[in-house]
Amino acid sequence: MAWWMALLLVLAPWLPGVHTCLFCFGPAIQRTRLCQDITGAPVSDPRHRQCLEALVQAAVPLASVTVGSKQREALREIIMDALHFLEQQKNMKPFEVSLQEAVNIIWAKLSQLEEAPACVPPCGYQPAARVFQCATCRLVDCHFPLDCPVQDVWAHAGEAITLRCDVPFDTPSDLPVTWMFAKDLRTQDLAVFDELQESVEGPLSLTLQEPIPGTVACCLGVLSEPLVRKYFYLNVSGGGVEAEQGLQAQFGAVLRWPEGRTPLHHMASLGLGLALGFMALVLLLL
Ligand SMILES: *[C@@H]1O[C@H](CO)[C@@H](O)[C@H](O)[C@H]1NC(C)=O
Repeated sequence: MAWWMALLLVLAPWLPGVHTCLFCFGPAIQRTRLCQDITGAPVSDPRHRQCLEALVQAAVPLASVTVGSKQREALREIIMDALHFLEQQKNMKPFEVSLQEAVNIIWAKLSQLEEAPACVPPCGYQPAARVFQCATCRLVDCHFPLDCPVQDVWAHAGEAITLRCDVPFDTPSDLPVTWMFAKDLRTQDLAVFDELQESVEGPLSLTLQEPIPGTVACCLGVLSEPLVRKYFYLNVSGGGVEAEQGLQAQFGAVLRWPEGRTPLHHMASLGLGLALGFMALVLLLL
């Protein structure tokens, strides 16, 4: 325990809050023992302190290193090998020399590790892009919100439109997709969306036969742990909309409703507004 404390006391003034890969793995006692081995001096000896400081300094450039989270174990092995190398070299050459060699070997091996894909802005949880960061000795994720900005989609009433919930980064395959709709609103407030159970076409796309104004949202992944949520505001122009909007104000608009634009094939939630209009039309004709 005393070694630990001594080491922390030695290191703290040097690099406040900054670790380097050399100190992310293995117990501190290991480094202390390493310096004891190399110097042959007790911990209280200034040479011991110098050894630790040399280790810290040699490792400073490594603080900038990040590796893909899947490479964390490989990185650990590289570092442990380097420390082992130092121990083996202790009676063969000056410590500074073997230390530089060890760091060079680390860099050479690091360059062979596979890089994690970069974070793709501006949204989504991107598990493949997660990295292990030497500066903090931690796994770090992209700092993006789950919610993507609302995209404006211009559509014509009566003309089918297909929305896609795919994303420009790697995701686990076979994720569930949930489609939702908020009629008339341009919003990201999940509380005002209705879930669309039916009419999910492919795994990642939704085709609306007769788009009506409002925001369609898709949620990729299980609802409790989504990877991303995309929002499409449908800006619908054309007769169908005018007819639907006119319907509320005046029945005259309903009579000019274009032929063949019945809402029979609509999904329940999406078509609700139009369906009501259709019922009104039927009543009117009766
Ligand atoms: C819909 O699009 C038109 C034409 O680009 C635009 O003038 C209008 O402001 C848009 N409506 C909304 C609610 O964004």
